[in-house]
Amino acid sequence: MEQFSMKFKDLTLQEKCQILTGSREAWCTEDLGGKVPYCRMQDGPSGLMVQGSVSVPCLQNIGNSWSEDAAYLMASIMAEDCIEHEVDVLLAPGVNIKRNNVCGRNFEYVSEDPYLSGILGKHFVNGLQDKGIGATVKHLCANNREYARFTVSSEVDERALHEIYLEPFRIVLESKPWIVMCSYNPLNGWYTSENRPLLKGILRDTFGFDGLIVSDWCAVHDRAKSLKATLDLEMPFAERSEKNLLDAHTRGFITTEEIDESVQRMQDLMDKVEASKAIRPTPRPRQERHNDAIKVAEEGIVLLKNEDGVLPLKNPKRLAVIGQQARYPEVGGGGSSDMSAKHGYDIPFLDRLLKQEYPDCSVRFIGAYKILPHLGFNNREWLEKIAIRDAYESEYSIVCVGDNRVLESEGYDRQSLKLPLVHENLVKHICEVNPNVIVIVTAGSAIDMTAWIDKAKAVIYTSFGGEGINEALCNIITGKTCPSGKLSETFVRSIEDNPINFETGNGFVERYNDGIMVGYKYYEKNNIPVLFPFGYGKSYATFEYSDLKIEKLGDADYNVSYTVTNTSDVDGKEISQLYIKDVFSMVEQPPKALKGFAKTFLKAGESKVITHRLDKQSFSYYSTMLKEWFLEDGWFEIYVGASSADIRLQAKLLVKTDEDQQNSKYDEFYNLPDSTNDTFIV
Ligand code: GLC
Repeated sequence: MEQFSMKFKDLTLQEKCQILTGSREAWCTEDLGGKVPYCRMQDGPSGLMVQGSVSVPCLQNIGNSWSEDAAYLMASIMAEDCIEHEVDVLLAPGVNIKRNNVCGRNFEYVSEDPYLSGILGKHFVNGLQDKGIGATVKHLCANNREYARFTVSSEVDERALHEIYLEPFRIVLESKPWIVMCSYNPLNGWYTSENRPLLKGILRDTFGFDGLIVSDWCAVHDRAKSLKATLDLEMPFAERSEKNLLDAHTRGFITTEEIDESVQRMQDLMDKVEASKAIRPTPRPRQERHNDAIKVAEEGIVLLKNEDGVLPLKNPKRLAVIGQQARYPEVGGGGSSDMSAKHGYDIPFLDRLLKQEYPDCSVRFIGAYKILPHLGFNNREWLEKIAIRDAYESEYSIVCVGDNRVLESEGYDRQSLKLPLVHENLVKHICEVNPNVIVIVTAGSAIDMTAWIDKAKAVIYTSFGGEGINEALCNIITGKTCPSGKLSETFVRSIEDNPINFETGNGFVERYNDGIMVGYKYYEKNNIPVLFPFGYGKSYATFEYSDLKIEKLGDADYNVSYTVTNTSDVDGKEISQLYIKDVFSMVEQPPKALKGFAKTFLKAGESKVITHRLDKQSFSYYSTMLKEWFLEDGWFEIYVGASSADIRLQAKLLVKTDEDQQNSKYDEFYNLPDSTNDTFIV
């Protein structure tokens, strides 16, 4: 471990101001000519953005996997790439909430649900940091659209802010990420990069985060104000930053102590980097990391439809594989996480993989449409005609369609929730001539499939699945792997059903009118039928739930257990979900909220007992009067289900905290310190 004589605290004031912005060498912090240590950061959540690194599935795939192990494994693959390329910090994971199905960057985020986002994000962070690579949780917060993300303020009411948009960050902080990245957007009128109530008041003082806060790239508008807000490091290098800070110090707007606090957190980061070098393992051969990427992709593949059990394919004789994406799958979305030109892996063609699996089967491939890298797709009429004829002559047709990094990208939102028209028409045309059409949809967010889904026999939904996606799909189609993914985002029947739709505010402010009713909470509360509900996904196996038990451990502290049985002859994994409902609350509550989940491997015929812990936090809501989470005694309903809309077991539970605890809360309420702002106690 390299020893540096000079500590950051011993630097001159000018030098301190210099190290609080990136160095001129991109992605690196400043080392003052070798006087102090530095670290190297790098994107991104779908793979280390360095040539030759493994392209892993996007975070949406982790969301659809509901697998803590998959989250951990995916991050650990990237940690090994970071070690190989001497990168100290990965700029991931993103845990922003998918409140709008058309947000261009949804593929980079986990879910519409804060609990699922937080738990999987936490395991992702552990997967990085257990191998000595720092995690950067981003983007704090309410960065839920790409349209005008640098300027339009996200106007969020206090309860929704805490219960929905901050909650993933609060949960992820349990894994002690080294860095939190602020977002570009203003929050309630103040840029998050200089929003002291957010960064110091909530992130540091309330959540207890003592790590480094970094700006999103070029997100700092006023360096002095951002330092005052305790944003420690402006990235990338900004010429004006040093002078901004020195001038602000001279005029007394920022103090030496404030500068030293940020300098100390820079020192802490470098100390972590230096110490972690000792625990970094020797990276395994790339092929092993690739094989893990296949496993991660498999975990997130969602079987949405499987009429007549057409899948897994059993001894097909004539198979048409249609669509260029069967050979050139989109590994990720567009923007700073785009690994398409980085991984260098020669992705095997899906049709050829299937031919290897079914040697006696006639497998025909036809591209049917052309992939235009910077435009999306376009029709190749004569190719489509051949594809239709091939389908007509085949026993089964696998049609590969979906979005790509042009249609789903950082920097702008989607123009439609539907497949590209070229693809939608192709599916419809193929379904007209073949009774056994299996549609494979690749996308980074919800797709409106209503135009064709009734015509298809089976539908497999895969996220942008990284370089291993075709091998993963082949394993699913052949039954080598039993599909186990479930949707982490509600698939609506039409974008008009989404409360946000294409709403982006008035150019200055976007009002989050949906409040706490985001995703499944909104659709269920408003009785809006959806295409596929949150938590939905099929398997080749079948599962039954039984024997719900609730054991009181203490004050508002319970174990909830139930049995899941694999009632089929196929080994598989089941994602069971635990929701609760606060029945008689004095504030508006959602019809249900996810408070636990488990992904359980069950051999054919096997049963397992699954247990979740429900504690005070599980039952509490964020009180805008008390300015903290509050547990209101009363009746709760406990739901255990295979999806948010498929509840298999339920129970009523009367939660009574001990009187003193309740009274002490009310005492606190009526004896709040005189607040500087107008807190009305009515
Ligand atoms: C981008 C993204 C952020 C990324 C950073 C560095 O604009 O918002 O997620 O890590 O800048 O590329």
